[in-house]
Amino acid sequence: LRIGVLFGGRSAEHEVSLLSATNVMAALDPAKYDAVPIFVSREGQWLLSSFENGALATPSDGTQICLVPGGHGRMLAIPANSAPHDLPDIDMLFPVLHGLHGEDGAVQGLAEVARVPLTGCGILGSATALDKDIAKRLLKAAGVPVARSVTIEEGAVPPLAALEDQLGLPLFIKPARQGSSVGVAKVNGSQEFDRALADAFQHDRKLLAEEFVRGREIEFSVLESPEGKLFVSRPGEIVPAESHGFYNYNAKYIDEIGAALIVPTELPPAVEAAMRAMAAKAFRAVGCDAMARVDFFLMPDMTFVINELNTIPGFTDISMYAKAMAASGVSYTEVIDRLMAHGLA
Ligand code: DAL
Ligand code: MG
Repeated sequence: LRIGVLFGGRSAEHEVSLLSATNVMAALDPAKYDAVPIFVSREGQWLLSSFENGALATPSDGTQICLVPGGHGRMLAIPANSAPHDLPDIDMLFPVLHGLHGEDGAVQGLAEVARVPLTGCGILGSATALDKDIAKRLLKAAGVPVARSVTIEEGAVPPLAALEDQLGLPLFIKPARQGSSVGVAKVNGSQEFDRALADAFQHDRKLLAEEFVRGREIEFSVLESPEGKLFVSRPGEIVPAESHGFYNYNAKYIDEIGAALIVPTELPPAVEAAMRAMAAKAFRAVGCDAMARVDFFLMPDMTFVINELNTIPGFTDISMYAKAMAASGVSYTEVIDRLMAHGLA
């Protein structure tokens, strides 16, 4: 099976994708898969990459790759200084891209147009899950508990006092369509509010002001079988280091002791069962298929809200998605095999 592995990408999570894709490449058994890494530059060019000695090449120019519309996996190589030529067809497109233009349905649509099977969630669920405003509306409509929030459009920012009346303080400001906590800030007063807005609007024209939920961060991996049956993992818990205040970008990727992952974490069995059922319900409510990591906050009284769904979650072998699956008896390579089988079904 020849797999086109897309990585890098135009989003603020470019670097995170490099980590995820390096692990995916290392885990793709060469006896089963012929992986073709394709680097998506920050400008969005597709460039032929390579994987040698455990590292993915991130070329700054070179051979551009074109996936042919209606081509059933036909790919063209377009070298800088010579004529375009065919590459062997791919059987599957595996986007290991986080955030906008990769996890949001864009590349998933491209796979559809190219008529090539896709690994992971399809167009609809990718698009809805990535937009925290739209996802929350769908979750609420399905009776899934979520944190209270107010959607803020550029040019129509409510005064902090109005938000405070509805959500209390502190509150969070988040870009609607971002991942890895990029552009997310905790706000206690008007100075922080102005700074948080300026920063978040760098990333999106639509923001969410969200109540601060004092809860434990509990996450579940959901994986759909080719027949459409959902497997929900054991729970994993994230315990951010005190110094970070919340599980922000630095805690996630920069600081080595930014957070501890406890997998599986022990919850009262009835609570775990209720959360697993809710994870499956949320997955369906936003229209996901194939895979997602469903993130919760669990309050001391054992009530919970869903924070968000990630259809291409951080995907290294020590990421929560893989750890929670492993704790449930499904190894990293088995996850990849199941995702491939799902894509081909
Ligand atoms: N957005 C990052 C990659 C995650 O959810 O794991
Ligand atoms: Mg996310």
